[in-house]
Amino acid sequence: MTARILLIEDDARLAAILQKLLTREGYAVDHVARGDEGLAQSQCQPYDVILTDLKLPGLDGLSLISQLHAAKPRLPIIMMTAHGTTETAIEATKLGAFEYLLKPCEPEELLDLIASAVAHSQRMTIPVELGEAREARFALVGNSRAMQEVYKQIGRVAATPVTVLIRGATGTGKELVARALYQHSDRADKPFIAVNCAAIPETLLESELFGHERGAFTGAQTRRIGRFEQAHGGTIFLDEIGDLSPGTQAKLLRVLQERCIQRLGGDETIHVNVRVLAATHQDLEKAIAEREFREDLFYRLSVVTLRLPALRDRAEDIPDLVRFFMQRHATDLAIRDPSIQPEAIAWLQRQPWPGNVRQLENVLRQAMLLARPFAVGLDHVQQVLARNAQALDIRHLTIAGYITELLDRAQRGEVEDAFHRLIADIEPELYSQAIRLAQGNQAKAARWLGVTRLKMHDKLTEFGLLPQRNPPPPGTA
Ligand SMILES: Nc1ncnc2c1ncn2[C@@H]1O[C@H](COP(=O)(O)OP(=O)(O)OP(=O)(O)O)[C@@H](O)[C@H]1O
Ligand SMILES: [Mg+2]
Repeated sequence: MTARILLIEDDARLAAILQKLLTREGYAVDHVARGDEGLAQSQCQPYDVILTDLKLPGLDGLSLISQLHAAKPRLPIIMMTAHGTTETAIEATKLGAFEYLLKPCEPEELLDLIASAVAHSQRMTIPVELGEAREARFALVGNSRAMQEVYKQIGRVAATPVTVLIRGATGTGKELVARALYQHSDRADKPFIAVNCAAIPETLLESELFGHERGAFTGAQTRRIGRFEQAHGGTIFLDEIGDLSPGTQAKLLRVLQERCIQRLGGDETIHVNVRVLAATHQDLEKAIAEREFREDLFYRLSVVTLRLPALRDRAEDIPDLVRFFMQRHATDLAIRDPSIQPEAIAWLQRQPWPGNVRQLENVLRQAMLLARPFAVGLDHVQQVLARNAQALDIRHLTIAGYITELLDRAQRGEVEDAFHRLIADIEPELYSQAIRLAQGNQAKAARWLGVTRLKMHDKLTEFGLLPQRNPPPPGTA
């Protein structure tokens, strides 16, 4: 699944450099030098991202963007622009550009932006199949009654414009359901913009959602168009909604009530036509009782509530899920005919799965690595799950609480190498959160952690965290 990029740039030297950079990173790149050619070319091939200059012969960047966006509202466009033309660049984001870049740009910055635009594009275009789907890369797998009920609900509400709140424990497939709802909606040809409310610092979230005017706060040197405005006509997915601060909750409530936004520091009221999907793993009723979540917002969000079952309540789906994930991971683990012994499946069906489908997927991947090139057996899955269970559940402990627990265990003789245990327990969480925050961008996550890309890739493989996207470019694996 190589991502395709259309590069529209009239400076031949710059175009050659960009083309080389992107090709080396594993993208397929087509290049044209004129705006009108770019528009024509975009109709000939399904592209994942368009990277375009602002000043172009034939058709200037802004008209190009508005015509492209009208023809292909789901295609992310990144605009490159010279300093001093920022106002135009902002104009471009209003016309439908996904992001803009100031020239001269750093290669890393460009690659980060391209990677996130590709992920954004694929969220919209790679279908999420429902039910039985052997060939699909993304599917909601499982024919249990609970899942049948989920498919029915998706069918009932997808095409209506109602707000849907997707609830379920961690790893139950909430994001997948959001994508399926979007893809089956009558807005499927319009943008789908996902915002992870927990991954963005509180101070930046409001500006991310609603945009800001120049000078709205220190550091706001230019105007910014928020995600709500960008999603106009389409769908916005607010993930981890339980993590919103009270201030942002109040603003969001207003958007839902009045269907309009105000950029931070601005007084213009901007009408937005956006369908809202939201998800959380948190106990919102409890949060409401504790006055941490607004009840009125809760009612606005949960016009329809879709609840995803825990994996342990649908153990009959496990054989299908196992086959699906083994297929999905076989390719990049270079396993030709992946197989698993029936007693291993039976044992997996009896486990409690606190991390739900995501945990099952990770366990399988690690077991496949362990068993490679042979069939996955009972001892493999038991070994992997035992290794994972020994780790303290650090997600729900403070660091001090974790250390107390670890030292308790050491005193009882249950842990002999507390120092190494600490690293082993924390490392997977560190990598997992970093890659998630970086939206799958390994280069970015590696930079944050101060490790090489090679190490990043090895660790992600070790912890079963490699996302299902393009294989890493040669030289990193
Ligand atoms: N029913 C399912 N069939 C197939 N794959 C699934 C299913 N549910 C989840 N997955 C897979 O499990 C992983 C986690 O799913 P997803 O990210 O949608 O969970 P989530 O509920 O959003 O979790 P979290 O609360 O931790 O964000 C993904 O790789 C997804 O593709
Ligand atoms: Mg999620």
